[in-house]
Amino acid sequence: MQPRGHPRNGALVNRARRVIQNLIASGYSASASGLYDKIVVGRAFRLFGGELARALASQGARAIEIAGHQPVLDMPVGTGHFTLQWAGAHPGVVAGVDIARGMVEVARRGAMRKDLSNFSAVQADAHRLPFASEAFGAVLCTNGLQVIPDPEPAVRELARVMAPSGVLFLSVITVPLGALVPPAIARHMPPFLIARRDVENMLQEAGLELRAFARQRAAMLMEAGKPAARVSSVRKAGAPSRCS
Ligand SMILES: C[S@@+](CC[C@H](N)C(=O)[O-])C[C@H]1O[C@@H](n2cnc3c(N)ncnc32)[C@H](O)[C@@H]1O
Repeated sequence: MQPRGHPRNGALVNRARRVIQNLIASGYSASASGLYDKIVVGRAFRLFGGELARALASQGARAIEIAGHQPVLDMPVGTGHFTLQWAGAHPGVVAGVDIARGMVEVARRGAMRKDLSNFSAVQADAHRLPFASEAFGAVLCTNGLQVIPDPEPAVRELARVMAPSGVLFLSVITVPLGALVPPAIARHMPPFLIARRDVENMLQEAGLELRAFARQRAAMLMEAGKPAARVSSVRKAGAPSRCS
């Protein structure tokens, strides 16, 4: 038996994570052309998030307003169902990232059909985003954190690529059983069980402060920014309430 903390344990954990991540990517790729939009977007999001589409439209509009002409990132982009709507309204570049090749291809095809030349989709892992630091005026992480194994470093990456004046818009759908156990245990639970407290801890560890929070059924809608820059993110109808 290896002692606790032995380097070989770390290597095994990393390998297990990679296997799980590849399975997740293959599953999403397989569902990308057809099933995903019909079942996940059309049914599951509505079941777990109620009027989630409306809340996401509001997040997208606010992200575009805050970014001005700077690029906007949406990670994970999925089929681009939401992202392409925002790209159509943004004067600058909109980038989408997803680990599933099938998802990226469907998003690209959708952008071509809609003639959105300002949209580009990249296949990449949330833990290693292929962008320069502070490259994006606003960052969206739409319905993704709950399926990304090891979400803490992914949140750090999102913070890294966001401009100091930027805002990170999160939509996370979870069954928050993690709230019932101490944080030290909760951080080892599957990400779809994380609670508000766990997401807040991730934001804090990434150097971000929570600015707004709203819950819609099982969906948590959050806005976070870098502490130095208090952006004038004007409250709009349907926007989440401010956090003190
Ligand atoms: C529930 S879908 C959300 C997609 C899209 N934002 C939406 O709302 O329709 C979750 C997405 O996360 C992607 N994903 C999972 N792990 C990832 C990772 N490590 N890096 C990037 N994308 C990942 C999956 O491939 C999948 O497309």
